Amino acid sequence: MKQIVFNKPGNAADVLSVKDVPLPEPKAGEVRIKVKASPVNPSDVVFIQGVYGIQPEFPDSPAGFEGAGEIDVIGTGIGPDLKIAQGQRVAFATLGAWSEYVVVPATSLLPIPDNLSFEEGAQFFVNPFTAVTMLEEVNLQKSDWLLLTAAFSALNKMVIQLAQKEGIRVIGTVRHAEQVQPLLDLGAEAVVNTKEDSLAERVKSLTEGKGVQACFESVGGDIGTQAIASLGKNATMLIYGLMSGEDAKISYGPAIFRTPIIKGFWLSRWMKEASIVDKAKVAKQVYSMMKQGNVTLDIEKTFPLAQAAEAVTYSTQPGRSGKVIIKCDS
Ligand SMILES: NC(=O)c1ccc[n+]([C@@H]2O[C@H](COP(=O)([O-])OP(=O)(O)OC[C@H]3O[C@@H](n4cnc5c(N)ncnc54)[C@H](OP(=O)(O)O)[C@@H]3O)[C@@H](O)[C@H]2O)c1
Repeated sequence: MKQIVFNKPGNAADVLSVKDVPLPEPKAGEVRIKVKASPVNPSDVVFIQGVYGIQPEFPDSPAGFEGAGEIDVIGTGIGPDLKIAQGQRVAFATLGAWSEYVVVPATSLLPIPDNLSFEEGAQFFVNPFTAVTMLEEVNLQKSDWLLLTAAFSALNKMVIQLAQKEGIRVIGTVRHAEQVQPLLDLGAEAVVNTKEDSLAERVKSLTEGKGVQACFESVGGDIGTQAIASLGKNATMLIYGLMSGEDAKISYGPAIFRTPIIKGFWLSRWMKEASIVDKAKVAKQVYSMMKQGNVTLDIEKTFPLAQAAEAVTYSTQPGRSGKVIIKCDS
């Protein structure tokens, strides 16, 4: 089968290639999936560059962390309680998603509701689990303010829709004027175009000087610095991405007098450390929000597997309207 591999860290265009590798066989408790689609996420880009939380193992490191496909072969020892069937449409998370086939534990699958395509179902794990878990972690109440930097990201579009249902007031940042209205339409209370406005000033005025109760920060640099300055009394900031590649600065005055909590969030760590019960609870929530079809899973462009490098390069362009998807069966 064909698989995308790389042999040194770098930019996708320089290091990714297609390799013929043996078809993987499922062991007991595993299934083989014929992969249909896999998104290019920012974590894929930095993993290939060698600056992610886990390092690629050479030679021939695979790439791609999540995807969707059809169950092709069922390994031994899988009981009927799992309701696994050949041909079933499922979402999965495993390193090596940019392959024609993957093998994963049968217990780790999520069925794809009929209302979702493979391209949508392929986005089922990383961002939905992160959105639900981060919202649980900050435990906001109705009318609380939540600041989202890079609010037009696929992840934050989900957060906006989930937050709105709880009556949480969202302030989002974007850097393109045309992204403002779509986010207001999704349910954000205010959207700040940081190319035109000062984030800290707008937050101050919107929250009547009190600042926000929570912030999900994924940009860093000046936006991150202003987001930290926008935190209210005892607010929580979850740092979960670094899209600008630059660290932010902390103002000591507000840190002392407003006593915010600033901490990191990494889904991989959460998945390792959370109890089976907590993981099942989040999976149930994710499944039901997808089934109800009340979250946006926008798709910008699809590429065949052989053009994975082009797909990654394309995904790093500013101003995309949705995810770049690799179609692993074409
Ligand atoms: N820690 C975790 O466990 C975890 C889990 C999931 C996701 N994440 C992180 O969440 C973030 C969003 O992921 P996603 O899949 O939703 O991404 P996505 O859909 O690809 O969107 C990326 C967003 O980042 C913005 N952006 C890129 N560079 C920027 C810059 N220099 N300044 C300001 N904005 C910038 C883009 O804005 P433009 O439209 O202006 O280009 C876009 O809105 C990423 O940082 C990802 O690594 C972390």
